[in-house]
Amino acid sequence: MIIDKIEALRAQIRKANQNYYLYDNPTISDAQYDNLLRELQELEAQYPQYKTPDSPTQRVGATPVEKFNLVNHAIPLLSLDNAMNDEEIKDFLSRLIKNLTESRPLEIVAEPKIDGLAVELVYEKGLLIQGSTRGDGATGEDITQNLKTIQSIPLKLDHSQIDFPSLLEVRGEVYMNKKGFERLNRQQLEDGNQPFANPRNAAAGSLRQLDPKITARRPLNIFCYSPGRYEGITFASHWDFLQALPKWGFRINPLIKICHNLDEMLAYKQELEENRENLDYDIDGVVFKVNSFLQQNLLGIKSRSPRWAIAGKFKARQEIAQIEKINASVGRTGAITPVAVLKPVSIGGVTVTHATLHNQDEIDKKDIREGDWVVVQRAGDVIPQIVKSIPERRDGSERPYKIPEQCPVCGSHVRRSEDEAKHKCTNINCPARLKGCIRHFVSKNAMDIDGFGDKLTEILVDKNIITNVADIYTLTKEKIANLDRQGDKSAENLISAIAGSKKTTLARFLHALGIANVGQFLGKLLEKEFGSLEKLIHADLEKLNAIDQIGPVVAQSIFNFFSEEHNQETVQRLLEYGIEFEKCRQQDDERLKGQTFVITGTLSGLSRTDAKNLIEQKGGKVSSAVSRNTDYLVCGENPGSKLTKAKEYHVKILKEEEFQELLKDE
Ligand code: IVH
Repeated sequence: MIIDKIEALRAQIRKANQNYYLYDNPTISDAQYDNLLRELQELEAQYPQYKTPDSPTQRVGATPVEKFNLVNHAIPLLSLDNAMNDEEIKDFLSRLIKNLTESRPLEIVAEPKIDGLAVELVYEKGLLIQGSTRGDGATGEDITQNLKTIQSIPLKLDHSQIDFPSLLEVRGEVYMNKKGFERLNRQQLEDGNQPFANPRNAAAGSLRQLDPKITARRPLNIFCYSPGRYEGITFASHWDFLQALPKWGFRINPLIKICHNLDEMLAYKQELEENRENLDYDIDGVVFKVNSFLQQNLLGIKSRSPRWAIAGKFKARQEIAQIEKINASVGRTGAITPVAVLKPVSIGGVTVTHATLHNQDEIDKKDIREGDWVVVQRAGDVIPQIVKSIPERRDGSERPYKIPEQCPVCGSHVRRSEDEAKHKCTNINCPARLKGCIRHFVSKNAMDIDGFGDKLTEILVDKNIITNVADIYTLTKEKIANLDRQGDKSAENLISAIAGSKKTTLARFLHALGIANVGQFLGKLLEKEFGSLEKLIHADLEKLNAIDQIGPVVAQSIFNFFSEEHNQETVQRLLEYGIEFEKCRQQDDERLKGQTFVITGTLSGLSRTDAKNLIEQKGGKVSSAVSRNTDYLVCGENPGSKLTKAKEYHVKILKEEEFQELLKDE
């Protein structure tokens, strides 16, 4: 019978998949595997009546979607509090012991904290029916078709060892291993695309592809680590649940361990931290979870994180490197940022060649010179930073650095205003500004034009093909093919990405225009307040000032922007080229509700205004001084006396990357 043949092939392929992806123990060659799959595909094409959604052929077959639908998680996907050092892990354990006086002994499951993206998989009657991103914890996006392409995610639960429950939700982290990441980036460069900054971004970018065929070609994998809902089965502990997962066909991390006391927990963390470079995937810490489900329930959860778990973060990775020279880079507002060009150094598996030096004051304060040996630090997605110079290694050839008085790009006069630490090029037509504007305009959170790389921007501006951001929409395949060794195919992809970007939201468009002080948050706020571009353009100062959360400086800059004739022209042209707005999908995210923040020091990844806006957008409050009521101190470079005070009051201190983590949507 044909159906028996089909089923036998499916079973063989599933077994081969499990051995390969789950147990890391391939039992047949790639060619044999391909033959089995092809044979199955041919039979299913010939006998479509026998096609099933859980067939291994269904991993790659889906058609692209236009956008992802939203999914409400039945149980929110929580986040984790961070312990920044051993002392905070000790505090965590003491809290547990204090709160669990009646119910001991206490076991803690220790796991690596995988640096990827959290997803939820829903199985009904053993079949994968939905897969989604974490999103803001309550609502994510439906990426079922993309998740199906990941071979280590079972489409159908295995019940040869234990029965599966009628409903099962499993959570885990999708990631890209380091080798796969390097291979993908080499390919990206060959195809003329921007490489990804790190494996996490590569995994995120791959999972959010509208075309599952692209996701299928990306080397993604998953470690499963926690339950959502499950019905018709009970577990006494997290460990028991984890042990059941591989029996159903899920992949769990092999380094998980039960700890019985603080010493075991700290030893686990130390060992993993020392070994992190030897793993073939990125981890950014360890996670400690109370093992007993009963104890977890007794401890309960706070607004968005459980009291029974904590992430023990690793120290930021530092290396010593030499500064070859310092370049002055001109941004889209004309602001000049000194950037250290380093002799390439590998920090935690990523080659670092540049680090920001912020401004002249920073260089002077840290006494950083061209030719100096310095300590460089890389943490999370934040731009690499220079922690300090090492004067003992100087041989006298080092050169102190001053930002030039002439713009390094256009030669115009550079001015430093009284109240700012920044130097600025005074020429509003400086090509570097235009390049900066274009980079910003096409970026992910703005018009999101995939494949519009920095190299191409340089060439288009240098060759005068683009003199204004609106010119982007006049590009044709012919105009860009042959530039920057762009092949026909990538030129075609770029043109279709440009066309695709025309359908956007007002919020994104406003952010893309680069109006001073208007970032993603204000873009959304303005969209909400005005509803149409027309109304915003004609708003007078009074109207803008009347909006809660918009102060006089921001109101003035919005007003000034739309009063300038060349800006009006640009906006008009963009609309004529077909930019149109769909409704912004607003999600109420109140995760910081009731929490008070104070900010100190210089943040490198975002301005203070943006940080404040982001906190308020998520329901938190920002105050100017540390008090006993402060929940968090966000601590940038060179913090002031607020840090001392925060320590005195035992206020939780967040470094910039931890703060970013807290705000992160996925
Ligand atoms: S458990 C309540 N376990 O870390 C428990 N999370 O900061 C919540 N993550 O969103 C998650 N490895 O993306 C858990 N072994 C692990 C993890 C892990 C990585 C991520 C996950 C989560 C974030 C929380």
